[in-house]
Amino acid sequence: MENFIAYNPVKLHFGKNVTNKLGNVAASYGKNILLVYGKGSVKKHGYYDIIVKQLKSANCRIYEFSGIKPNPLVDDVDTAVRYASDKSIDAIVALGGGSVIDSAKIISVCIPGNYKGWDIMKRKVTPDAAIPVIAILTLAATGTEMNPNAVLQNPVTMEKIGYNNEHTFPAHSFLDPQFTFSVPPKQTAYGIVDLIAHALENFFGEGESNLSDLFIASIIRDAIHYGPLVMKEPRNYDYRANIMWDATCALNGVTAWGKVVGDWGVHAIGHQLSMLYDLPHGATLSIVYPAWLNLQLSRIPERIQTLGKLIYNNEDAKETIDNLTRFFSSLNGPVSLAEVSIGNDNKLEIINLMNKNKVSGFYHKLSDNDHMLLVNLMM
Ligand code: NZQ
Ligand code: ZN
Repeated sequence: MENFIAYNPVKLHFGKNVTNKLGNVAASYGKNILLVYGKGSVKKHGYYDIIVKQLKSANCRIYEFSGIKPNPLVDDVDTAVRYASDKSIDAIVALGGGSVIDSAKIISVCIPGNYKGWDIMKRKVTPDAAIPVIAILTLAATGTEMNPNAVLQNPVTMEKIGYNNEHTFPAHSFLDPQFTFSVPPKQTAYGIVDLIAHALENFFGEGESNLSDLFIASIIRDAIHYGPLVMKEPRNYDYRANIMWDATCALNGVTAWGKVVGDWGVHAIGHQLSMLYDLPHGATLSIVYPAWLNLQLSRIPERIQTLGKLIYNNEDAKETIDNLTRFFSSLNGPVSLAEVSIGNDNKLEIINLMNKNKVSGFYHKLSDNDHMLLVNLMM
């Protein structure tokens, strides 16, 4: 096991009606609240009303910034920072899924120093302060509610990249599984794929930690158990609650402590597909993971065997890959580029972008030749 520092300062409020406490928590930072949300699902399903009522009951002054898109854009972050700059914002309430919460995290570190979002993302400047972010999660997937990561796209440079530092943890996160009842089937499936992918990225990372392997296997087994149930009964509280907690634990540090670093090559490839075709994050992962595992089959067979033993009690590496692929398919996650109408004509532009952005894992390095092999495996 490697030396490590375990640090996670997020106060996570989990369960039925936990947002009842939101007003007091927000007001403890001050009266001026920047409320950030997406394209309107939170209004349609009533979460916006619940949150605004809470904030008003605590006499908060609400400034709204809406329209954050899935695969969020750095331009929207910059626009939000300009909007907020003269409003003495005391806290940011981010109401939505990963895209909204990630955007809020970067807004929170841009406001104090009046930084540009992309300068933060590219680490040209280092923020030393942040407006506290209070996340109200409406979609179980990314784990952003309990980690410091934020992922943004820049269509000018054709990059989708991640960022984190000690200031980008949410101060509080409120997770009421009832807020996820309305997540549509496709998006629910992508969330399940995403959480499994996070567990796998750490499983295939560098370093050995037996407990990490066991945490990872437990999370994946739980998702394989509850995934099909939640797809059948999307308004079942227990099913939604279990998937929500799986997603949080898959990327809150617990699976990474004791290891050197996760791999994240599959995520890096997925980000190229989101950049090029605006595919939802989870859909990119159900396409890329089977291809990546098949590429690695002859390179790291023992590690895939260990995964199979822990998840399926089956040490056959190829069967493990096929089982995972079938599971993604059973949720209606795409497992090839063809399923999302990306064909041979697109191959070159994908390979070129992967080459340009030097896509690789931290541990399992990918060469230009691997990029070509992977794109062929995804077809
Ligand atoms: O825009 P609105 O109207 O809010 O609709 C959203 C959006 O269309 C909708 N939605 C969210 N909650 C809903 C709902 N619809 C009905 N009922 C609800 N309760 O779902 C759509 C997708 O939302 P989005 O926030 O984009 O999804 P997700 O949570 O999967 O976030 C994806 C983003 O997070 C990044 C991804 O790359 C992607 O940009 N990631 C962030 C990570 C992190 N911060 O740790 C790690 C991940 O690996 C990932 O990279
Ligand atoms: Zn992910």
